[in-house]
Amino acid sequence: MASIEWDPAWETGIPAIDKQHKNLVDHVGRLLDAVMEGQTEIDIENSLFYLAQYTDFHFRDEEEIMVETHYPLLDEHRANHKAMRDQVAMMVRLHVREPQALTADLVKFMHNWIINHVGTMDKGLAEHIRSAQTR
Ligand SMILES: [Fe+2]
Ligand SMILES: [Fe+2]
Repeated sequence: MASIEWDPAWETGIPAIDKQHKNLVDHVGRLLDAVMEGQTEIDIENSLFYLAQYTDFHFRDEEEIMVETHYPLLDEHRANHKAMRDQVAMMVRLHVREPQALTADLVKFMHNWIINHVGTMDKGLAEHIRSAQTR
């Protein structure tokens, strides 16, 4: 069984966003498995690469929605995404320089960060999207 399973409590109620979050959590889970199972450096590098790509795709997509729907908390939300992008970039650099330093705890920290972001900022955005749709 994968180390991280999707929890329906994390759903925002916006299907397109929930689908992306499931994929994002899946990528984090794959990276965590790779680190915990002591997979080869190339496997860990691949997992990191896919996670970085998907993070970028998902954040861009949410930011586009925020611009299109004139979300008032866009700047704050974008700054939070930026912190996460920086964290992923740090993990990529760390893995290149010092593979042993990329620990399961670091990946778990990232997982917690995502869940916290989804449960607060993304749920707030979902509320805004719903009210924009019914307007
Ligand atoms: Fe999100
Ligand atoms: Fe977000």
